[in-house]
Amino acid sequence: MVRALIVAAAVVVGACAEHPRVTGAALSVLGAYAAEPVTLDVAAVYLTIRNNTGEADTLVGVETPIAAMANLHRMVGPSGAPQMRDVSGAEIPAHGQLQLRPGGLHLMLMNLVTLPHAGDTVDLSLEFRHAGTIAVRVPVLSYLEVGERAAVGSGQEQQ
Ligand code: CU
Repeated sequence: MVRALIVAAAVVVGACAEHPRVTGAALSVLGAYAAEPVTLDVAAVYLTIRNNTGEADTLVGVETPIAAMANLHRMVGPSGAPQMRDVSGAEIPAHGQLQLRPGGLHLMLMNLVTLPHAGDTVDLSLEFRHAGTIAVRVPVLSYLEVGERAAVGSGQEQQ
């Protein structure tokens, strides 16, 4: 019930399906996508958060109606045997950005209540220390589409 109210109260602005963009006063969420999960165990979500203010903010939590649990995760360890660890928060620097991407920070949705498929969308509530809650509608991409998106993302990083 609480989750549903939070999602309804937040403002969602979708610019277009290919490059979903959510803009609050202080933070913008760009290029969000979920990788189509194979099982109900886990689904990973990647996105970029841009800080439009001169004050650093921190991503402290995530909720979604489609999963019993959702956490911020980081990949650690050697590339041949990567492991995931919970992260209590991730900073978005003043006038900077935080990238969640394959192989790094990501949002992990666990114990899914429904299995989303490519073409579906997943609603998330991102919780920030200063900016409060921002609702994001995240498109679910196929394995192939995720690979293409990751290639584009690594190109953008070099700007
Ligand atoms: Cu994870």
